[in-house]
Amino acid sequence: MWGGRYKLGPAEIMEKINASIGFDRRLYAQDIAGSIAHCDMLVAQGIVSAKDGRAIKRGLVKIREEIESGRFKFSTKLEDIHFNVEGRLTELIGPAGGRVHTARSRNDQIALDVRLWVRDTIDRLEPMLRDLQAALIDRADEYAATIMPGFTHLQTAQPITFGHHLMAYVEMFGRDRSRMTDCRARMNESPLGAAALAGSPHPIDPRKTAKALGFDGPMANSLDAVSDRDYVVEFIAAASLAAVHLSRLSEEIVLWCSAPFRFIALSDAFTTGSSIMPQKRNPDAAELTRAKVGRIVGAFTALCIILKGLPLTYGKDMQEDKEPLFDAADSLELGIAAMTGMVRDLKANPERMRAVAAADYSVATDLADWLVRKVGLPFRQAHHVTGRLVGIAADKGVDLDKLTLAEMQAVEPKIDRSVYRVLTVEASVNARKNIGGTAPANVVRAVAEARRRFLGRDKRAGR
Ligand code: ARG
Repeated sequence: MWGGRYKLGPAEIMEKINASIGFDRRLYAQDIAGSIAHCDMLVAQGIVSAKDGRAIKRGLVKIREEIESGRFKFSTKLEDIHFNVEGRLTELIGPAGGRVHTARSRNDQIALDVRLWVRDTIDRLEPMLRDLQAALIDRADEYAATIMPGFTHLQTAQPITFGHHLMAYVEMFGRDRSRMTDCRARMNESPLGAAALAGSPHPIDPRKTAKALGFDGPMANSLDAVSDRDYVVEFIAAASLAAVHLSRLSEEIVLWCSAPFRFIALSDAFTTGSSIMPQKRNPDAAELTRAKVGRIVGAFTALCIILKGLPLTYGKDMQEDKEPLFDAADSLELGIAAMTGMVRDLKANPERMRAVAAADYSVATDLADWLVRKVGLPFRQAHHVTGRLVGIAADKGVDLDKLTLAEMQAVEPKIDRSVYRVLTVEASVNARKNIGGTAPANVVRAVAEARRRFLGRDKRAGR
């Protein structure tokens, strides 16, 4: 392909380190789509004859069929996907195959292929995040009034509703979706026409190829077009955050189905047994989803370090972007799908959740708030009084609502019998009806709003 001035072939190790066909064959569909658009433009501009153009396109379509049916012979000698396709094209249609690379370099070609691949990947993952939201919203609807303990520092803090907890993740995945669509919008420019780095002397029309490939327009600077992979970094950054969110929910699933918690159970479909302990049901899918973030953030780090300090324009270093990119995308895709399955599969244990929610003085804050509202104490003093009452109850080994009125009045004489009404977990969650609060009525409303905000027909997240 470039052997004009070469007398010797490459060293074996040169071929090995140089070849990317082992992984960039995944770009075949984008590579062929790009070549078809480029060929159409060359014909329209009179750079390639209509006859050669037809032969080139016929050959490219045939190559796509060969690849998709598994008949295509990929060759390491031909380095990468671009040369593999072009080599076969020339085999199929003769020297006219060599015209498709007029006014193009592998530098703008690979920049194009990766852009199209990232864009296609976003278009696949973003709806998957939407499906995950749909699963969470359905379960939140079901468990809108199911009371569970809310934690801070993983210590029992205040009662919350399970629906409210699930809806927190709906918000997070909504932002993940909008980060994906932001990334897509920003990257949607075509690098074709930049050629090797400086542009092309042929009378090309980069607007035409940009339009044909669904881009908003051509990139403004040829050097930038072949040099930057910021869209890859941005996509992986968005993927990293989505993976962080998946990891936190995974960890909660692992905790919730452990014996000391017993808040939820996963069915046989999402657990595995132990080879030695017959009683075990391990949440492997949750554990693996929890771990995927490591590979994805690893890819983010790899990409930033590969690009850091690279002088303009193209450097072969950039070939190293693909494996981390593919692995990050695959890992996220698996993680989202597994999480969606687990969310739909899990079964809550409301009795157990309520019992744990009611323990450990979880309504102490409600008592302090009651002292502020009904007795008129400054909050700091109400906090102190409540603390003393919790101490007395703890010494007796009882819950706050088991203290007698006399015991409470010994600490604060103005306490009356109506205090008992705020000392239940139901009263606690029902009292939190302000925007964003955990009350079951709020969850019901949040579910309806989320269906509109996130699941509305042809509505993109965040818009
Ligand atoms: N396989 C290369 C890559 O992934 C394609 C571009 C090669 N360009 C070059 N001038 N050698 O970056």
